[in-house]
Amino acid sequence: MPSAAASLSLADWNAEGYRRHAGFVADLAAPVLETLAPRPGERILDLGCGDGVLTAQLAAQGAEVIGVDASPAMVAAARARGVDARVLDGQALDWDVLFTAGEDRRPFDAVFSNAALHWMLRPDAVIAGVARLLRPGGRFVGEFGGAGNVARIGRALVAGLDRRGLDGQAAWPWYFPEPEDYRTRLTTGGFIVVGLEGFERPTPLPTGLAGWLATFAGPFLRHLPAAEHEAYLAEVADTVEPALRDGRGGWWADYVRLRFAAVKPG
Ligand code: BEZ
Repeated sequence: MPSAAASLSLADWNAEGYRRHAGFVADLAAPVLETLAPRPGERILDLGCGDGVLTAQLAAQGAEVIGVDASPAMVAAARARGVDARVLDGQALDWDVLFTAGEDRRPFDAVFSNAALHWMLRPDAVIAGVARLLRPGGRFVGEFGGAGNVARIGRALVAGLDRRGLDGQAAWPWYFPEPEDYRTRLTTGGFIVVGLEGFERPTPLPTGLAGWLATFAGPFLRHLPAAEHEAYLAEVADTVEPALRDGRGGWWADYVRLRFAAVKPG
């Protein structure tokens, strides 16, 4: 059987590839949106807005939303949906970075983040920036990968680089904290944590493991010559297949989520 991972390439890492292979990320955001409970007229920052699907949903619910993301391609896709989106490093949130002179600088009622904080390896810098932009009483609500997230896929990606004489762990691009670690960081950053939980959420992959790897494995692939990508991804797929492929041929990601809600004291 040809490897499922071999049929897609890194070239699919763009807004269109993200929509096709990872559109489920926004589809699964209903619970964290419920936790946010946006109210019409609220000023909300969508931190790591990606292609703006959720930013647009928040705007449709009457919020005044700004999305920020480090990826220019994603921000362009978000803008194409008609939302206000800006290219910005979520680890450097500040008034002068977010706004040009003369723009409305009223503090935000809420900062929201879905499936983005695990790409930001300096969590304390993120939390400090969020605190700067929120009004007193404002809330920080989010969901991202917690400890153990994509553990099987990640181990296979690391091991594949190790086997090629590279330091696979050094390529690790994600921050997946234990819930108590993140609680401590939020508290130290000045927030009152009103809810925080970690939970497993095995997630079906609509375009298989190949789609997931094509979208998210770039930080590992960039350590290998392009000619080796196909064999490397095939090995990863073979390694995880017994655990992550079901009897009907469907692939699942071993997701673990960390969902939280915190408030900046008034
Ligand atoms: C996640 O949403 O948990 C995730 C997405 C891409 C890479 C790693 C984790």
